[in-house]
Amino acid sequence: MTAPDPQLLDRLARLLGPKGYTTDREVIAPWLTDWRGRFHGDSVALLSPADSEEVAAVVRLAGEYNAPLVPQGGNSSMVGGATPPADGSALILSLRRMNRIRSISSDDGVVVAEAGVILANLHDAVAQRGMRFPLTLGGKGSATVGGLVSTNAGGTQVLRFGTMRALTLGIEAILPDGSRFDGLNPLKKDNRGYDIRHLLVGAEGTLGIITAASLRLVPAILDRAVGWIGVDSPHQALKLLRLIEGRAGDAIEGFEIVPADSLSLVLRHIPGTRAPLAGEHPWHVLVELDRSDPAAEAPASQLEALLAAALAEGLCRDATIAVSEAQAEAFWKLRDSISEAERANGPALQHDISVPVSGMPDFMLSAADEIRRTYPGVSVSAYGHLGDGNVHFHVRAPDDAPTEWQTSAGPTISPHVHDLVVAAGGSISAEHGIGQMKLAENVRLADPARLMALSAIKAAIDPKHLLNPGKLVPLATDEAAP
Ligand code: MLT
Ligand code: ZN
Repeated sequence: MTAPDPQLLDRLARLLGPKGYTTDREVIAPWLTDWRGRFHGDSVALLSPADSEEVAAVVRLAGEYNAPLVPQGGNSSMVGGATPPADGSALILSLRRMNRIRSISSDDGVVVAEAGVILANLHDAVAQRGMRFPLTLGGKGSATVGGLVSTNAGGTQVLRFGTMRALTLGIEAILPDGSRFDGLNPLKKDNRGYDIRHLLVGAEGTLGIITAASLRLVPAILDRAVGWIGVDSPHQALKLLRLIEGRAGDAIEGFEIVPADSLSLVLRHIPGTRAPLAGEHPWHVLVELDRSDPAAEAPASQLEALLAAALAEGLCRDATIAVSEAQAEAFWKLRDSISEAERANGPALQHDISVPVSGMPDFMLSAADEIRRTYPGVSVSAYGHLGDGNVHFHVRAPDDAPTEWQTSAGPTISPHVHDLVVAAGGSISAEHGIGQMKLAENVRLADPARLMALSAIKAAIDPKHLLNPGKLVPLATDEAAP
């Protein structure tokens, strides 16, 4: 380890002032561990620049002293992407103070938000202007724009408007040499070669520090209908999705699959929750239909007709539609609390995977069978974004497992799951990124051309590996030892 040069710290302290620079261990402590408590890092200073000029100055200074920087927003990464290395060599570069909404244009349907704007605050700000930012996820109370763009976040409403990549129309970022990439203009057409914006989306802060983004807005929702449906299998759920898509087209805003055991974990661990349907069902689906146009059919009557058709065609077992906004929220809470319930329940290995949508039902059943057969006592829940071909395939510890089960079983079970995903033509990271958690697996499983391109791009733009080291892109030494 090379500890940050005291002279650098001194210059940073003078540059950022007391609001933007601290070495107070108590202030820094919460930002050294990821929210799931799996990764622990260290850093002697927390840098919180107030604007992009200060970010550029920090990046230039860090470059001068060869000091690594770990950009951080809400610290809600699922893969340890914002946790500094444990050796204390890096400085945390927090974007949380940069939390201004610079502009909202109803004409262009664009909001320009700084990197530190929290997603829930973004939702509120654009709602006040009669617009909507159509991406949401469980961590919306802490996740920030910079982190969402840097990880190409997904969430529960990707089906209709896509991931952050589709919603990010422009980016402002500080590149590793301290230069500013001014790409905020939301141009519909721009053919000047490599798309730097798309390079930065999903780069996990390894190619530049995103300081602001222009994001796509859509009209606010006028009303919505949220249904909870009991189904026999993922196959039936996918048929149901196709039926709804065929008849409701663009109105479908969410379609999430929840296995019975994930629902029971939520009911057991999350206070105030109750099952929407009276009977037992092996699988459940949450569906949401919306409308923004008063001339369009009301979502409630549309969903009622669709569910009646689905019941008649044998595509579901039972269904209910929320009768109030509060009940709609309660249905979503069941879905959004799965991660939290699982955390309260005990050790589990998480896999955020995708395969082609049509192959997902077979994959969910066969992979779960194989993992249960091979590791007696474990339980498997695959839940989430079926319509995107992305589920969270979680393997939970046997009841009598020791507390360190994750550490002992992970190195065997996770590669096994990933091998099954790759054999099914899928990706080992659908929406959470690679971070540090999947770095070795990405090196083991990525095809050589992908790895070569990743490493070459990183080497060209950040040759000293100073931005978010140890995440996403292997160092030369990592490649040899996956
Ligand atoms: C989700 O869809 O709930 C999140 O991506 C988190 C997860 O459970 O892995
Ligand atoms: Zn998810």
